[in-house]
Amino acid sequence: RVLVLDFGSQYNQLITRRIREFGVYSELKPHTMTAAEIKASGAKAVIFSGGPNSVYGDDALTVDPAIYELGLPILGICYGMQLMAKDLTGGEVVPADDNGDYGQSAMQIVDATSPLFAGLDAEQKVLMSHGDYVKTVPAGFSVVGTGENCPVAAIQDVDRKFFGLQFHPEVRLTEHGNDILRHFVFDIAGATANWTMRDFIDLQIAEIRETVGDKRVLLGLSGGVDSSVVAVLLHKAIGDQLTAVFVDHGLLRKNEATQVMTSLQGKFGVNIVQVDASDRFLGELAGVTNPESKRKIIGKEFIDVFSEEARKLDGVEFLAQGTLYTDVIESGTDTAQTIKSHHNVGGLPDDLQFKLIEPLNKLFKDEVRELGEQLGMPHDLVWRQPFPGPGLAIRVIGEVTPARLSLVRESDAILRDEFAKAGLDQTVWQYFTALPGIRSVGVMGDGRTYDEAIVVRAVTSIDGMTAEFAEIPWAVLGEVSAKIVNEVPGVNRVLYDITGKPPATIEYE
Ligand code: XMP
Repeated sequence: RVLVLDFGSQYNQLITRRIREFGVYSELKPHTMTAAEIKASGAKAVIFSGGPNSVYGDDALTVDPAIYELGLPILGICYGMQLMAKDLTGGEVVPADDNGDYGQSAMQIVDATSPLFAGLDAEQKVLMSHGDYVKTVPAGFSVVGTGENCPVAAIQDVDRKFFGLQFHPEVRLTEHGNDILRHFVFDIAGATANWTMRDFIDLQIAEIRETVGDKRVLLGLSGGVDSSVVAVLLHKAIGDQLTAVFVDHGLLRKNEATQVMTSLQGKFGVNIVQVDASDRFLGELAGVTNPESKRKIIGKEFIDVFSEEARKLDGVEFLAQGTLYTDVIESGTDTAQTIKSHHNVGGLPDDLQFKLIEPLNKLFKDEVRELGEQLGMPHDLVWRQPFPGPGLAIRVIGEVTPARLSLVRESDAILRDEFAKAGLDQTVWQYFTALPGIRSVGVMGDGRTYDEAIVVRAVTSIDGMTAEFAEIPWAVLGEVSAKIVNEVPGVNRVLYDITGKPPATIEYE
């Protein structure tokens, strides 16, 4: 395995991700990990990540100096390289005179024999993002790469196997970054590509068993991909010591609750307490039209129902959550897990004190899906499109009533069916219907109608932060429209949303 010590860069999660893609296990660890702990972990190499601080600042993050004596290859990236330069004898780091060096720029490889750069062209496009820079390399080091605005862009001490990169090899804007990381991991550190998701499962199961012992674990099951995968993983590890609480808020898609229950409880035997709280949620939502109020009510009600169920169970010591790597990183480092955990459960009452278990917090979404497949979960369940916590309530614009929910639920089922038939479920990132609350005049048979419209929303996106409306073949849209107006009473018009995000959002509220 390769350990990445975390100095807080926004890219550090990508480093471990890239290395895992090579088939080598990699994990992000706090920068406070000691040399002894690193040695005991059996790591083949250590990477110091980038970070926002200055090595000379009051808040500078440091490493245990004994790490340099372990005999392990070390790669310092950005802040990591500056830290090495400062820690090792003879090195000097200084602040840039101007505003630093940010963005893609050219780097010349000045030592073609460097094992980092084997087989690469002399000029490389790299992503720089730093204020300080290394002015003098430590004793034993030489400069192997020089940037446009940064004379010391890459350094090495081949004897000690210490390497430093001022740029970020883990991002795509560094064109051959993956090659450089590969050279470090395989050629320099001698790692073997033999890690798979199976190993991750075994590792997690062993870890969970050790942490939990004979105690009981509670899991809040939302029906989404992440918590479903956690449910199956925990069940494999501790069987009936796990109780999952599935709060059905009545705002799920058609058949969704049944699908989750059939799969997780029926197929995998997960112990699930299903709480049908739809009346309660709909009661609280009655008469409410403001989008933020709706979201807040749903969030609060969710916590209330979940807490009530948790109190009914005896002897629960742990709370499991489907927190992902990205969630952890986005909330900061070091203390991130605690902050996010509270945030994730939306603030459980003080009398519910749990220790947290977050087995997915080292993975990205697509890795979680792969994990789900490896655990034998049905493809449909694992590859479901994103679905918001507040459910269909934010797709019913204005007041949420059973009748209005039903229009969305039924039309959405038709849309999903037609998209699946056309194979669009594989290519379109997210697609659903919404009720805009527009009534209009239509003619059906010989009669006049004055009914609701349904909007179809379909977008392509990478991460949901930005999105484009999907180009759907007219024939498919035509079929969707015909089916909806024919099969969903009360709808006489179907619209297609052709707005991207920005300026719109993906959801309607
Ligand atoms: P927007 O509407 O903000 O949505 O463009 C971006 C993505 O996030 C999903 N979404 C949510 N997911 N809880 C969630 O778990 C929420 O409250 C929530 N609101 C939006 C949305 O479905 C889209 O994929």
